[in-house]
Amino acid sequence: FQASLIVDRDYPLAPLDRRVFGVFVEHLGRCVYDGIHEPSHPTADALGFRGDVMALTRELGATLVRYPGGNFLSGYDWEDGVGPLVQRPRRLDLAWASTETNQVGTHEFMHWCRQVGAEPMFGVNLGTRGADEARRYLEYCNHPGGTALSERRRADGADAPFGIRLWCLGNEMDGPWQIGRKTPDEYGRLASETAKLMRWLDPSVELAACGSSAYDMPSYGVWEDRVLEHCFDEVDYLSLHSYFVKPPADSSTESFLAQIETNARYIEDTLAIADAVAARKRSRKRLMLSFDEWNVWYRARHGAHMRQPGWPEAPRLLEEVYTAEDALLIGGMLTMFMNHADRLKVACLAQLCNVIAPIMTEPGGPAWRQTIFHPFAQAARWARGEVLRPVIRSPGRLHPVHGELPHLCASVVDDPDTGRTAVFLLNRDLGEEMDLTLHLRGLGPARRLVLAEELHAADLHAANTLEAPDRVAPRDLVNLSIDGERLRARLKPASWNLIVTQ
Ligand code: AHR
Repeated sequence: FQASLIVDRDYPLAPLDRRVFGVFVEHLGRCVYDGIHEPSHPTADALGFRGDVMALTRELGATLVRYPGGNFLSGYDWEDGVGPLVQRPRRLDLAWASTETNQVGTHEFMHWCRQVGAEPMFGVNLGTRGADEARRYLEYCNHPGGTALSERRRADGADAPFGIRLWCLGNEMDGPWQIGRKTPDEYGRLASETAKLMRWLDPSVELAACGSSAYDMPSYGVWEDRVLEHCFDEVDYLSLHSYFVKPPADSSTESFLAQIETNARYIEDTLAIADAVAARKRSRKRLMLSFDEWNVWYRARHGAHMRQPGWPEAPRLLEEVYTAEDALLIGGMLTMFMNHADRLKVACLAQLCNVIAPIMTEPGGPAWRQTIFHPFAQAARWARGEVLRPVIRSPGRLHPVHGELPHLCASVVDDPDTGRTAVFLLNRDLGEEMDLTLHLRGLGPARRLVLAEELHAADLHAANTLEAPDRVAPRDLVNLSIDGERLRARLKPASWNLIVTQ
């Protein structure tokens, strides 16, 4: 079937904030311990971080890393994770029924961030702790010196302040599973007061308030409205979290991939609520969004293994094995994120290593790329510059909630500095090839191809495993021609594609 995509350099949407290529590292299962950190691994550095995982994190292109949780954050005492390693306490982590050894804390994580070249996004615990503790932690991290807390950081080995700019004010504070769950009024007031103290201490910080922990939470909407009523003026971002599922009642690939539209509505509805609060306050401020947890997560989610007996250290939790089908959804979600670049400034794929993750490891053994690694790495590498507004003409499929959904999902990012334009394309039709005509208007008549890749697996359930780590990986996209500003490509059914021209 035929489809077309038109973009015009004169119709930009917004510059793409590269922090949308963030990831998440939580003290959960084998994400930190036996994941990014394994002192006995042959590739480990002096602080015990695996070199092979660092190399894959750089290849993934993660620009930002959210830390240290997640549900873990709501019971975390940051002081357990600083000072000499031998004095660090072992604690029970109630969020994941595990033993936390605190061998990785603020200093170690900041070292790791520098090694992988990613900006940190830290969280303050608003579950069991509050505004004053957040203020103390920020002073420890960001104040240059001359006070008890900043001198303690210096004595702990970091002479210069960490300069951590982005902070989450708690995590999923609406969830019944959260340690120290709050009502929206309780949380909104606490977020407002915490933000006030943090800004007085360091005016350069950027703060994200917790939105609902999912679009389908019964309190969605009311939560956003009440929370923002209290803290709208004090915060910069509102968070969204979304995990993509496959309900047994409708496990079709078509419905699975329609979650791109569900999440687009989640973004647009959340913006509508934030803008309504702004209108009520006669405020011209426009709140931005931080989609700081997102991924496919439905297999390793339920059942006894979620809380293992005996308070284990680094148990195997949430170790989802991703398929080619999952990679298509991740790619489609990234196009949708790019097409909301005017208001979506931060996003974190949850998580990075072993726990619902693009990177897997075996203790003492190799690290490998899951299927979802590939669309993320391609986007993080090539999506730079200005997002252009795409005009898509494509046949589609009738969806019971969203109406007609086009088979083609696409985004285009143009980098005026390099002259490169990256086009990201998902063909959601499962049975037919797409004959795509791409009009790159205003981008110059003599364009040449820099790169063209496709991710396609005949078996949508194909996965990358320890035994076969490269079963699903991008290959060259060959059915392609350029004629001036017009490009023609033949896209396989159920395929994710990247075309870069210059
Ligand atoms: O990412 C796994 C968990 O999902 C996080 O700890 C929590 O914030 C969310 O519910």
